[in-house]
Amino acid sequence: MKVRGVLRVPGDKSISHRALMFAALGKGESRVRGLLCSADVLSTGAVLRSLGAAIPELNAREFTVRGGGLRSLRESAADLDCGNSGTTARLMSGVLAAIPFDSRVTGDASLSKRPMQRVAKPLEAMGAQFEFANGDGLPMTVHGGLLKGVTWFSETASAQVKSAILLAGLVADVPVEVHEPAATRDHTERMLRARGVDVRTEGTVVTLLPAARLDAAAQDVPGDPSSAAFFVALAAIAASGALEIEHVCVNPSRTGALSVLAAMGALIGTEDTHDAGGEPVARLVVSPRLLRGITIEPEMVPSLIDELPVIACVAARAEGETRVTGAAELRVKESDRIAAVVSNLKAIGADAEELPDGFVVRGSDRPYRGRVQTRGDHRIAMAFGVLGALDGNAIEIDDRECVNVSYPGFWSDLERAIG
Ligand code: S3P
Repeated sequence: MKVRGVLRVPGDKSISHRALMFAALGKGESRVRGLLCSADVLSTGAVLRSLGAAIPELNAREFTVRGGGLRSLRESAADLDCGNSGTTARLMSGVLAAIPFDSRVTGDASLSKRPMQRVAKPLEAMGAQFEFANGDGLPMTVHGGLLKGVTWFSETASAQVKSAILLAGLVADVPVEVHEPAATRDHTERMLRARGVDVRTEGTVVTLLPAARLDAAAQDVPGDPSSAAFFVALAAIAASGALEIEHVCVNPSRTGALSVLAAMGALIGTEDTHDAGGEPVARLVVSPRLLRGITIEPEMVPSLIDELPVIACVAARAEGETRVTGAAELRVKESDRIAAVVSNLKAIGADAEELPDGFVVRGSDRPYRGRVQTRGDHRIAMAFGVLGALDGNAIEIDDRECVNVSYPGFWSDLERAIG
């Protein structure tokens, strides 16, 4: 299989969620360009609309949101349905905690199994109240109220937890300080700074000082590095050719997969790096090489957490062993991604093994054949879609539609890249 052409992946999912939330909470008109129009981001749009925000149709290349300010949201009569989206549920919890009304937050079967106490705990320490019907998962009711500031030592390296606390501090107009065990993606911090909020970062400590208002701001959403990673991986394991991926966000908190694939031997050029919308953006040019297995250390994990499924699939084609540890968080993503990756690699004939907090994959150049059970997880579908595109492999994906939560055009882009 040969790769060729120039590809532009859809807008970054993390930045898209935040662009809508900050446009709704900002005072005045915010222009948004290049938003990811996927099921997860539509969930954020719908939740904000239920709370009274003037969010327009989201399928335009560019649109304007008229924000009502930090305290403009109103109680919703209906449940706030976050669909499959953990970012919607967790970041909005921070906002809801700081406004004096009740909200019932729900999600689909997968999201309802994911841990929410990790955001409830710090927000309760600030003075909000949470009620859970089923222990740690959704549905949950948020009783928002007057909050006080907090210094929080987070047990998990999670940008969603950090962001929920920062948003609660922002809306409540109180100072917050978050200590993370390892630095996580910093889009919230960058975007709040661009909107006039005093947010400081020192190592793994992030502080937000009281801000009476959030300015409106234009947001250009760069391409999602987690979506680009599927095509970087495809080009790295192809037989020949080269693939260019334009306008990709190369924020250092998101580029761990590029470093790992390069260390495995892939030829990855990063060209024309420049700033767009407060984020570094570049064109990636990738060609195949012989790949070797690698050990991924725990401290790298936050910078490539969403890319581990596709790295595992690349590892199945590399020479030798790839080992990942310190990635227990994978067990509480859209599926248990350690179990999903390993059982599906085995199902297609690859050599893989689960670890409590990661996995081991031993690569081979034999053909891989079989049926993949995605467990409704978009990144499992796309990772095995990449492996299935190689000559000699025949991999059937049980649910191709689940890619719609983050990358609705994935299958047609995949066909074009190998066209
Ligand atoms: C995200 C943070 C990460 C990531 C998710 C998006 C965000 O989750 O896996 O896809 O937008 O903040 P955690 O914060 O739970 O690690």
